[in-house]
Amino acid sequence: MTRVFSGIKPTGHLTLGNYLGAMRQWAAVDQHRAEALFCIVDLHALTVDHDPARVRRLSRQAATLLLAAGLDPRLCTVFVQSHVDEHARLSYLLECVATDGEMRRMIQYKEKAAREQRRGGSVRLSLLTYPVLMAADILAYGADEVPVGDDQAQHVELTRDLAVRFNQRYGHTFVVPRATHPTVAARVMNLQDPTAKMGKSDDTGPGIVSLLDEPETVRKKVVRAVTDSGRDVVYDRESRPGVANLLEILAACSGGNPETLGGVYESYGALKRDTAEAVVEVLRPVQERHKELCADPGYVEGVLRDGAERARAMSRPTVDAAYRAIGLLPAG
Ligand code: TYM
Repeated sequence: MTRVFSGIKPTGHLTLGNYLGAMRQWAAVDQHRAEALFCIVDLHALTVDHDPARVRRLSRQAATLLLAAGLDPRLCTVFVQSHVDEHARLSYLLECVATDGEMRRMIQYKEKAAREQRRGGSVRLSLLTYPVLMAADILAYGADEVPVGDDQAQHVELTRDLAVRFNQRYGHTFVVPRATHPTVAARVMNLQDPTAKMGKSDDTGPGIVSLLDEPETVRKKVVRAVTDSGRDVVYDRESRPGVANLLEILAACSGGNPETLGGVYESYGALKRDTAEAVVEVLRPVQERHKELCADPGYVEGVLRDGAERARAMSRPTVDAAYRAIGLLPAG
């Protein structure tokens, strides 16, 4: 059976981008057709300036939202990265296979390091090695597929390179995984700056729709989205990024196709109104379920406990094999 692994980082409130680019596909498709693991990657959240209590809170919230979005613990494994030691264990071995140059070429590293420096902060070493930990997440489970938004494609490509290199040097140990992306909304853009990804770091911004935004807030944000100077509604990502983003969001939420939808609208106002309503309707069941789950924190905790146990059992043999293959003496 195909094995699928993906992760989400608790660094801010989860967004419509996370949902359309990843979570929805995990719930609707991946957990039904594959042996699937979904991980709240809390160790990755420590790679930038962080508040310990906030990371803990956001980790719990991310787990609750994954379940609210439809992940079913009877069908898949939902767990927290730091609950399973194999991730950190394997990450170190992969650091001995990856190169400094490879790490410095990662687009997300360059962007995030520049942001930290602009804020006057220093860049944590773990930010540089971030993609190695991500590779360990994936390779520890022998995942065949990694369903992610477009922004993670380079990291999955690096994971493939590391798997191939390790296998060539030390003997076949890892499955070489591949990234899969949704056909629409693989990169949802910020509503106020459609040339930038809708990211979760500056989570209070008007350009970001959070999964827990009230319907009125969603409507306001969508209606105030920056559009382009033209007047006709056409789907063109290059020259009309604002309108293209709305058409993609509408298509992803209503099941249509962005090009076709472009021909349906005669004004930006109508497009925005329909997009806002489509987003509100997509978020409604997730928010309702989230509310129910918040009333039962013991349930979420239990899911994470069972998930970690399953994940440990699934990852340990591969990570042990990697320790042996690379030349470390077994503990006996
Ligand atoms: P993260 O937490 O930034 O995002 C989680 C998932 O959401 C997708 N995504 C988006 N998709 C479309 N449009 C957007 N604006 C948007 N923003 C986020 C991401 O592509 C991702 O699929 N490094 C990863 C976490 C990670 C991981 C892993 C993923 C750690 N280990 C192993 C897969 C496998 C990250 O920061 O995702």
